[in-house]
Amino acid sequence: MLGVGGGIAAYKAAELLRRFAESGHDVTVVPTRAALRFVGAPTWEALSGKPVTAEVWDDVHEVPHVRLGQEADLVVVAPATADLLARAAAGLADDLLGNILLTARCPVVLAPAMHTEMWQHAATQANVAALRERGVVVLDPASGRLTGKDTGPGRLPEPAQIYDACLDVLARGSQEPDLRGRTVVVSAGGTREHLDPVRFLGNRSSGKQGYALAEVAAARGAEVVLVSANAALPDPGGVRVVRVVSAEDLRQAVHKEAAGADVVVMAAAVADFRPASVAAHKIKKDDDGTVPAIALERTADVLAEVVRDRDSHGRRQVVVGFAAETGDASGTVLDHARAKLARKGCDLLVVNEVGDGKAFEVDRNEVVILGADGTSVAVPEAGKRAIAEAVWDAVAARLP
Ligand code: CTP
Repeated sequence: MLGVGGGIAAYKAAELLRRFAESGHDVTVVPTRAALRFVGAPTWEALSGKPVTAEVWDDVHEVPHVRLGQEADLVVVAPATADLLARAAAGLADDLLGNILLTARCPVVLAPAMHTEMWQHAATQANVAALRERGVVVLDPASGRLTGKDTGPGRLPEPAQIYDACLDVLARGSQEPDLRGRTVVVSAGGTREHLDPVRFLGNRSSGKQGYALAEVAAARGAEVVLVSANAALPDPGGVRVVRVVSAEDLRQAVHKEAAGADVVVMAAAVADFRPASVAAHKIKKDDDGTVPAIALERTADVLAEVVRDRDSHGRRQVVVGFAAETGDASGTVLDHARAKLARKGCDLLVVNEVGDGKAFEVDRNEVVILGADGTSVAVPEAGKRAIAEAVWDAVAARLP
């Protein structure tokens, strides 16, 4: 059941509907009257293949106001406006969607979208708290450009994020979120080390795996800080994003955030070397054809430092490293990974085999999760979110 509220973001629900329909879900769309002023019934009927109405007075003999809610496996409302959140919190039933929200016994996901002032208003916050108290999953709105010139929290999360959150809820059912009350820090992306004002040494990490780890941790109830190095990805809803550029920036941000964390996951590709000095001006070509030599120096190993400090925070932190490995004459991928796990001293090492276009800038991945306790879990090729779920399963099993 896809409910659509009367906000300008209603058009984005068409993309959400398309994702559900293309992945084989049977979707009934129930817009509010106000939503139909933004996007008309023919759009929803064409995309869902079903008749669409906002009213309880159509097809009364089929008692749709009771049946639709009772039969649904999931109700998702996107966008959920301030008015819709208020009506849902109060249990009003003056249209078909209001009736469905009262009769549904399945999980309900609400994806709010409104102006920042409306989202932050005490009335809206009280409605959200009341809905969450009752077990409704209210996603946090994204931050960014709103309808007018203003920016701030209140944007509808991207349809892909709402879709993923719905699949999580469907998969988990009414299970209690297992990371609730935990604070986790995830580093993601790839660091850049400046050579001069226009050039840097970087790497191919897109940040997708780290972002998926952050999103899944938030969906499983954790408070998440994402230390993001140069990733061109939308901020995940409900996650605090700290942006960094270089290995040293990342090091400082991770240490600051790790002080209060239960879990630190180092998914970022951190530079091992940086230019020993950064030129103040753009390095120019010499007419005689000589090529400048770039002296490099080592950066700090952030993961090793997190492991070193982890018992100083008054709690036993679970620390997760990532390793991108290739096999060679001296050993297989897993030989090198076991040695790295021992060397780094973390609890878990997520091992990727790289080369041949594997792992970088792609949406799927295949990993082995090695535990310092000798365990090894092979996760066959899957989407980066599914990999993230497997990593959090391994982490959750090790939390005190
Ligand atoms: N890492 C880090 N700080 C660095 C380099 C890496 O925290 N300066 C972290 C990465 O985030 C990752 C893990 O260490 O979780 C493995 O990184 P990798 O570069 O593969 O390990 P190295 O020990 O540098 O081994 P190698 O010699 O294979 O590069």
